[in-house]
Amino acid sequence: MSDSQQVPVLVAPRPYTVEVGPGLLSEVGPRLRQATPAGRATVVTDDIVAPRFARVVRESLSSAGFLASEVVVPAGETSKTWARAGLVLDAFAGAGLDRTDVVVALGGGVIGDLAGFAAAVFLRGIDLVQLPTTLLAQVDSSVGGKTGVDLDAGKNLAGAFKQPLFVLADTDTLSSLPQSEWSSGLAEVAKAGIIEGEDFLSWLEVSAEGLRSRQPSSIAEAVRRSVEFKARVVSADERESGLRECLNYGHTFGHAVEKVAGFGAVSHGIAVAEGIRFASRLAVDVIGAPVGFAHRQGHLLDVLEIPRIRLDLDPDALREAMSSDKKARSGLPRFVLADAPGSWRVTTVPDELLKRHIGDFVGVGASGEAGSDEEGLT
Ligand code: NAD
Ligand code: GLY
Repeated sequence: MSDSQQVPVLVAPRPYTVEVGPGLLSEVGPRLRQATPAGRATVVTDDIVAPRFARVVRESLSSAGFLASEVVVPAGETSKTWARAGLVLDAFAGAGLDRTDVVVALGGGVIGDLAGFAAAVFLRGIDLVQLPTTLLAQVDSSVGGKTGVDLDAGKNLAGAFKQPLFVLADTDTLSSLPQSEWSSGLAEVAKAGIIEGEDFLSWLEVSAEGLRSRQPSSIAEAVRRSVEFKARVVSADERESGLRECLNYGHTFGHAVEKVAGFGAVSHGIAVAEGIRFASRLAVDVIGAPVGFAHRQGHLLDVLEIPRIRLDLDPDALREAMSSDKKARSGLPRFVLADAPGSWRVTTVPDELLKRHIGDFVGVGASGEAGSDEEGLT
């Protein structure tokens, strides 16, 4: 496909490619046939995505000689559970998949994480293809091999690394995304820009209008830049022993918001945007980041029109959730903090300071002044 871009993810023993461009869903059958002699392919998708895109994927697979089946789960984070993973595994067994067969994840990050996890454990691991259909999944979750489900105790607490055979990010699918999901995806793009460095961050600032109005050229570049960034990080540190931790920027607080609000109540990207605002303020006190950098990040999220949420959540419950986050060590929450574009470190935070910041932040969100508010920074 001439107007698609290919980004390599250099993980051993099997590097793979993320292809970004229009019209790619109908290419999945031929691409998969080049990659495997498998006989069966099971498409895992959700009940919002299935009516839009499942047929084209199944037809493409069938035309390439695969016996295609489908598992449809309810849309949303509430499907990212241990119990739902069990049902998906039962469906794989019912479809007669063997060790040479393939799971095709068609949907957003929930489907990618759930189907990827099921593919990682079925028969101790069968092949996986990612067909991301949300902005968030195209720029982040389909790349890098993290899969898993939420437990009552916390977000993504059970999972496995499962790199796909390839990823096809069909940018045509994004046109049906509701505004809330668009904003959620832009939050992960903003994260990538802030952590990658000045070039990406400045591009986002000048391209905000094009991204808000979903101009195809801006979308294509945002997805490409984000995927290139993530692919570089994952290629250098697949298992998160150092560099990959930067991808958790905004996530310590964001995951706590998701858990305390109840999984599914706040979308992942919107929670991460709150987490970026929180971390940018914390960085001023903890690592001496310039206040102006925190303002700059808040401004970026505002010009991308990523909505604030009312954070009338219990501060103690948020702190407790951060302590049981999978990034915590010995019960101490850890944060990625940045003091300039592309300059970050991971650190714990003294408990009293953390409590004060949570109190200030939750107060800001609940009063409705958030977004343009800058008083909580000092
Ligand atoms: P999602 O999968 O729930 O999708 C959001 C909503 O959009 C759903 O209702 C879905 O049915 C709908 N949808 C999907 N594609 C659509 C389309 N083209 N048109 C219309 N509607 C569409 O959520 P998400 O935001 O894509 O992903 C969030 C999940 O990703 C979270 O569970 C998060 O933890 C995970 N995540 C994982 C990683 C990773 O590295 N594995 C990284 C970031 C996030
Ligand atoms: N989204 C975090 C990671 O992929 O490492």
